[in-house]
Amino acid sequence: MTPRSLLVTGAAGFIGSHLVDTLLDLGYRVIGVDDLSRGRKNNLVHALAQSRFTFIEGDVTDVAFMRSHVFSHPIGAVWHMVANSDIAAGVADPNVDLQSTFLTTFHLLTLMREFSVRQLAFASTSAVYGVHEHALDENTGPLFPISNYGAMKLASEALISAAVESFLEHAWIFRFPNVIGSRATHGIIFDFLKKLGNRTDELEVLGDGTQQKPYVHVSELVEAMIFICQHASDKLNWFNIGPPDEGVTVLEIARQVLRVASPQTPIRFTGGNRGWVGDVPKFRYSTEKLRRLGWAPKLTSQQALAKAVQELCS
Ligand SMILES: NC(=O)c1ccc[n+]([C@@H]2O[C@H](COP(=O)([O-])OP(=O)(O)OC[C@H]3O[C@@H](n4cnc5c(N)ncnc54)[C@H](O)[C@@H]3O)[C@@H](O)[C@H]2O)c1
Repeated sequence: MTPRSLLVTGAAGFIGSHLVDTLLDLGYRVIGVDDLSRGRKNNLVHALAQSRFTFIEGDVTDVAFMRSHVFSHPIGAVWHMVANSDIAAGVADPNVDLQSTFLTTFHLLTLMREFSVRQLAFASTSAVYGVHEHALDENTGPLFPISNYGAMKLASEALISAAVESFLEHAWIFRFPNVIGSRATHGIIFDFLKKLGNRTDELEVLGDGTQQKPYVHVSELVEAMIFICQHASDKLNWFNIGPPDEGVTVLEIARQVLRVASPQTPIRFTGGNRGWVGDVPKFRYSTEKLRRLGWAPKLTSQQALAKAVQELCS
């Protein structure tokens, strides 16, 4: 990705804020937009101190606002990190993912076309795959997501593919597994710590604890995204990012959090083999495509977990 002026949507969120910090460290000029519905300005303390960073508070789906306040700045490429990050809320009300996960992409692409911005990096997810027995590689199909979130991410990927055909020069789609680390606004470690903040006589764990998924640390995720943009030069590029290991179970995560935060607290499982409707209880990634491009994580899921627990508990 060669343009020096970048727009990051969801800039004050968990992943967006880490991305902004790294892009600034690499010398880019960055405009960050966020409506602060989940993100925090506090996540941008480092960025706000730099003259190459501009923060704009606003809603990405407000096209008139985006036109006059955001796209009035020079923008060479867009990193689209906004989405609904509360998957259970999206199951309860499909409108949540229609608005936050799909229409944000739709409106952004409309504006990019209008302002001739031709490069897009997009945060997608393992949830687009649905349930499969084997390790998920980028050619796995059919793609039948089981959550509205996954469905709206897959629909966003489809829109991006169509935009590549009509006006985008390059698009990079990153399919993240679970991402963990400092500044988390949601996710399993965040949820456990929040529950322990309310009561320490038990830790409620959704499901039976056997759910097992790969976890990537946010620092390595950001490194991988930037590496992919610098090295994958097809018009449409799509990659799984993460460790190729078996992942860690929910029970292991609960135990690790309790060991650090509240060793005496017993676990209570809600039962069943999944956390909520739309939860894919087990998956494993093939990251061979990314390894062939030249990048692999240094941390296993277990090591990423240990690092994230330490960061979030300190
Ligand atoms: N964290 C994970 O484990 C994970 C896994 C797979 C994919 N992803 C994807 O990565 C991206 C970033 O996720 P995250 O974990 O940092 O979540 P996050 O909720 O911390 O970040 C999203 C940010 O977008 C902002 N936002 C929401 N709606 C907006 C709108 N209409 N206009 C402007 N800002 C808006 C929120 O305030 C928040 O700061 C998302 O697209 C998410 O789907 C995350």
